[in-house]
Amino acid sequence: MTELSKSGAAVGEPVKDSSTPSAFLEVRDLKVHFPTDDGLVKSVDGLSFSLEKGKTLGIVGESGSGKSVTSLGIMGLHTAGQYGKRKAQISGEIWLDGTELLSADPDYVRKLRGREMAMIFQDPLSALHPYYTIGQQIVEAYQIHHKVTKKVARRRAVEMLDRVGIPQPDKRVDSYPHEFSGGMRQRAMIAMSLVNNPELLIADEPTTALDVTVQAQILDLIRDLQKEFGSAVIVITHDLGVVAELSDDILVMYGGRCIERGPAEKVFYEPKHPYTWGLLGSMPRLDREQTERLIPVKGSPPSLINLPSGCAFNPRCSYADVPKDNVTRTVRPELAQVGSQHWAACHMTQEQRDRIWTEEIAPKL
Ligand SMILES: Nc1ncnc2c1ncn2[C@@H]1O[C@H](COP(=O)(O)OP(=O)(O)OP(=O)(O)O)[C@@H](O)[C@H]1O
Ligand code: SF4
Ligand SMILES: [Mg+2]
Repeated sequence: MTELSKSGAAVGEPVKDSSTPSAFLEVRDLKVHFPTDDGLVKSVDGLSFSLEKGKTLGIVGESGSGKSVTSLGIMGLHTAGQYGKRKAQISGEIWLDGTELLSADPDYVRKLRGREMAMIFQDPLSALHPYYTIGQQIVEAYQIHHKVTKKVARRRAVEMLDRVGIPQPDKRVDSYPHEFSGGMRQRAMIAMSLVNNPELLIADEPTTALDVTVQAQILDLIRDLQKEFGSAVIVITHDLGVVAELSDDILVMYGGRCIERGPAEKVFYEPKHPYTWGLLGSMPRLDREQTERLIPVKGSPPSLINLPSGCAFNPRCSYADVPKDNVTRTVRPELAQVGSQHWAACHMTQEQRDRIWTEEIAPKL
């Protein structure tokens, strides 16, 4: 069975049995592949994790690593994927509150969306309808799941707008999305996502389009609302700093797979995988000069049609020759325990890793 950390997220190997899990959300060996003219795009390729209510899991990884595909998969939204031409091939198990969603009736999953699970998208304009007022959209979202009058639903909409910090919510409820600033639209979308008190909230890069101050406010808001509603939250971002602050556990994705995961403070302060070291080095920091900030991990993300053999990170890894016998280019490293509740997929020995971290990486961070 998957080992559970103190904070409730599973940090063990993929679980193969199909017994009902005890965790609120448990994803087992999730694969989401897209047939394309160029070949099979393996956007998510064997991802496993679990999450308890009241806890936050941060999923981090650079563009194209499979973060959004994972969240759309959990929400059961893949048939309407962003390219939408051919159906995704999905396998594995997604257990939400004791029910396996991949084998469940799509109507049942549709009913869960918005009520039991909700998503905050990166771009609120794509989720909000331009021709309806913010209030009408929140009212509709509420009435789908609650048999209440428009008046009651509207009261609920105003209450939610107030809760997410929209000033004069009783007036702004009648505004159209374009009358709101980017930050306000994001708040409105959060209000809409939370109107039915979902037990699982997925926030997919909820702040990338916003300036730094508003970003901080939105993240505080998600944290406060989570405390209040006790939901399980998945926060997706390419910024390790954001997830470190917000999450109980962190899962780092690379090329559609998990390459490191564990309690947030472990992954942030004692990361074990060279890719996570790279992410840490590319984080914006106040004490760095502007020019030194945001140095991306060198090289480009891997092709998801033909992942490099062995460790998918090897073409970009400065330490690819540290493990013996070229193993790094021939054998794919599995997730292995590297500390208490902490797992990483890298062929280096603990001694090799610790030496490089202490002598080469940590002093530069
Ligand atoms: N319907 C689809 N058909 C083919 N490929 C797809 C489809 N949906 C996603 N992909 C591919 O899957 C990969 C992972 O995409 P995903 O959107 O999950 O990345 P991401 O980690 O969310 O990146 P970002 O940080 O840019 O949002 C990308 O290479 C993307 O092009
Ligand atoms: S397995 Fe090799 S290439 Fe992959 S991260 Fe570890 S050292 Fe780098
Ligand atoms: Mg994305």
